[in-house]
Amino acid sequence: MPRAAVVGAGMTKFGVHDEPLQELFGAAAFDALDDAGIGPRDLDALYFGNAMSGQAENDTHLGPKCASHIGAARIPVQRFEDACATSANAFKNAVEAVEGGTHDVVLVGGVERCTPETGKDTPEMTRIFASASHRQYEQPTGLTFPGVFALLTKRHMHEHGTTEEQLASVAVKNHANGRLNDRAHFGKETSVEEVLEGPVVADPFRLMDCCPFSDGASAVVVVSDDIADSFEAPVDVTGVGHATDITPIGDKTTPHATQAARDAANQAYEQAGIEAADADFAEVHDCFTGAEIMASEAIGFAPDGEGGTYAEEGRTSLDGDRPINPSGGLKAKGHPIGATGTAQIVELTEQLRGEAGDRQLDADTGVAHNLGGDAATTVVSVMEVRS
Ligand code: COA
Repeated sequence: MPRAAVVGAGMTKFGVHDEPLQELFGAAAFDALDDAGIGPRDLDALYFGNAMSGQAENDTHLGPKCASHIGAARIPVQRFEDACATSANAFKNAVEAVEGGTHDVVLVGGVERCTPETGKDTPEMTRIFASASHRQYEQPTGLTFPGVFALLTKRHMHEHGTTEEQLASVAVKNHANGRLNDRAHFGKETSVEEVLEGPVVADPFRLMDCCPFSDGASAVVVVSDDIADSFEAPVDVTGVGHATDITPIGDKTTPHATQAARDAANQAYEQAGIEAADADFAEVHDCFTGAEIMASEAIGFAPDGEGGTYAEEGRTSLDGDRPINPSGGLKAKGHPIGATGTAQIVELTEQLRGEAGDRQLDADTGVAHNLGGDAATTVVSVMEVRS
């Protein structure tokens, strides 16, 4: 049984933007509303994600500012903050709201600016992002997010023999996919050699193993199953799982297993009545190349310890049997924190409608995996072609 349907999807290009946050969000929101064939007055609520703009731009209480900007003032607006999983959590709550009868039509989305357009350079933005790590046990050590995921990845390499070449193959794939996506931050391909020759950011990650700092916005229109057929191109949401894990990472017994992702994926698959093998593709949270390998195992797209091999052998490429991140992922499409979760839902919607252009897959079922903080929060969603 569908829990809800997505009937409209929109996003800005991810990259560098100089417009105010409500205008950036408005561009994605109008795109989604137009796609759904409705206007702002048809909305019952806005579920909105933004993680860092208070620290980065001295701009808070953004929900009502965005609602006013799109001409939807007076509707209830709810703001979510779950680090990088911010708008996926907004999406989960919107699905629950339409399923439970609280609302029928909800606009869900997120916006963030992370580039020097905010007035904050890479070291300052890295410090701001690190506020999502543990205040007492991680921040005092100087641990920032490249370091968090480097530690998890090092553990994966130690346990499973994952290699730097396998990490690099994830970057190569995602840059190749991103080149087919005109809304991606980066439009250029790379090679294993180029990745391995890049400067080290946090061992084992080099420059090209990392996602960039990006600005951007994304939005989707979520409606109740009852009214979905009155829209032109509904795509069913059949499962949304949500779990957290122990933080700080030093307290996790198997940190490289990303347990929250496993729990969230199991919930989502159970709700949808499917197994991982039934899903045709996934958008996963590849903030660093190692994160994609761990995610591919956590959601059951590769057996434990074989995520690196799957990437290296091309099995997760567009023409592989387990495609991952056809959009280019965070690595090439970009990562404007609060916009990333619903941007994954945009990609699932377009793929399942057959609107993904040169990166189109033959797919009936897609999975989105969005992770926040030191692998402490994960939301996994399953969407399917409406039958
Ligand atoms: N991937 C590929 N190319 C990148 C890149 C990335 N992640 N980041 C920057 N570049 C490119 C730029 O386009 C630029 O290219 P050009 O010289 O051809 O114009 C060049 O590298 C230098 O860019 P710059 O902005 O000066 O890089 P930087 O040193 O300030 O930042 C990183 C590079 C990798 C340190 C930064 O992108 C980073 O920290 N990324 C991780 C963000 C993060 O932690 N997100 C949270 C995840 S949980």
